Amino acid sequence: MTTQPAVPAAVIVLAAGEGTRMRSATPKVLHPLGGRPLVGHALRAARGTAPEHLVVVLRHQADRVREALTGDFPSVLVALQDDVPGTGRAVQCALEALPADLSGTVLVTYGDVPLLSSATLQRLAGAHAAGGNAVTVLTALLADPTGYGRVLRDGTGVTGIVEQKDATAEQLAVREVNSGVYAFEAAALREALGRVGRDNAAGEVYLTDVLSLVRTAGGRVEALALEDEWEIRGVNDRAQLADLAAEANRRTLRRWMLAGVTIADPATTWIDADVVLEPDVTIRPGVQLHGTTRVATGAVVGPDSTLTDVEVGAGALVERTHGSSAVVGEGAQVGPFAFLRPGTRLGAEGKIGTFVETKNAVIGRGSKVPHLSYVGDATIGEHSNIGAASVFVNYDGVNKARTTVGDHVRMGSDNMYVAPVTVGDGAYSGAGTVIRKDVPAGALAINVAPQRNLEGWTLAKRPGTPAAEAAQRANDESTGTTASTDREIQP
Ligand code: UD1
Ligand code: CA
Repeated sequence: MTTQPAVPAAVIVLAAGEGTRMRSATPKVLHPLGGRPLVGHALRAARGTAPEHLVVVLRHQADRVREALTGDFPSVLVALQDDVPGTGRAVQCALEALPADLSGTVLVTYGDVPLLSSATLQRLAGAHAAGGNAVTVLTALLADPTGYGRVLRDGTGVTGIVEQKDATAEQLAVREVNSGVYAFEAAALREALGRVGRDNAAGEVYLTDVLSLVRTAGGRVEALALEDEWEIRGVNDRAQLADLAAEANRRTLRRWMLAGVTIADPATTWIDADVVLEPDVTIRPGVQLHGTTRVATGAVVGPDSTLTDVEVGAGALVERTHGSSAVVGEGAQVGPFAFLRPGTRLGAEGKIGTFVETKNAVIGRGSKVPHLSYVGDATIGEHSNIGAASVFVNYDGVNKARTTVGDHVRMGSDNMYVAPVTVGDGAYSGAGTVIRKDVPAGALAINVAPQRNLEGWTLAKRPGTPAAEAAQRANDESTGTTASTDREIQP
């Protein structure tokens, strides 16, 4: 039997359950995995089959889940489940949100099964259409089937599904389990659901009962057995969430490695689903790449860096850095020990060095902030150098203000830029300058106070200390070559 891709009339994603085993104030399907909420994975897989209608069934904290979805899935229909519990009732509620004359294939899947792929859903729809089935259930053979519904067969096909709670000892020994993912003929589904009762151990409307009802009515019920059981695993608690997140990550890393990315230590590397890497990127140990982070070819990230929504240019080096919503230009260098806050844009060949924090800072091509500095609310031109231990003093306690620095500027160490202030092209400043006034292009800014040396102060004021003893030894050795008292150092 050939399996052709078939476009479903609708995909229904069930996500109304409360998820009590998560023990969380956050709805289960909004817990993130690989940087997306669980239900986001389910909806993407569903959308990938290009259905005419995409429906998600909600109940528990429905408003919160709906709000979280609308940005990424504007065309999804939301159906609200009423007080009647069970997967069958959830599907009934979804059908009520769909056209009454809907015909063709309806896929049903869950909001808490994040590794299920579009490809598998397409295979299911294809097998369903090719077999002329009324129902096709996606199954897997598990070493430990505990908790899942068991697939019952006779010589001709699937006769039904029995839940763990309702199964006999003989049925419990069956290792083929129901994934909870199905393809249905719309009419057969609607008809059978109308006849499902609540006479079971849970007192719920079981969707699984549809299979035996359809079969008894003469419909064809088949199973598509999946080899990759990760794809059907669901999240019920946070231990399963961690297991699935780790597997999803292993798959993401493998996909990037096969695409030409070097990942030195997959065991300590986490890459979100929506991150994009180019060939010949190198990821060193201890790196987490989150959100929409993109890294261009030849760039090296790590070790020990966490980047969220950061764009790293080709050939750049980002070492031991924590960054978010920032752009690092081609061939630029960041770290070690840098903190890039939102709005940082480092130009090509630029540098944000060691113990440097930046925020809302545009640093032009070839410009450098190499050491121990804070650059906030600033625009720095091209090929300029900010001396070590400088602070862009951007906050007066009430308002934030911006500093502008021109091109080819050479600023001294330990400068304070008291914003708003502007430094012109080609300007210089001395060490320890507090830039309170604009510096014209080509000027040297200095405001150092004259230095005074009070000769003999340590021996007079701190006698008996190690410092005084060291000073005494130095005096003895130098015999008459000391500096003049109270000499002023001119800048
Ligand atoms: C269900 C299946 C079981 C299958 C297992 C696979 C039934 C009766 N049983 O069991 O055969 O092996 O999934 O994981 O279908 N949901 C709703 N509304 C409800 C109840 C559930 O939308 O009233 C949603 C949940 O949010 C969840 C999914 O349906 O996404 C499955 O519900 P759950 O209670 O976990 O079903 P299981 O008991 O695991
Ligand atoms: Ca479940």
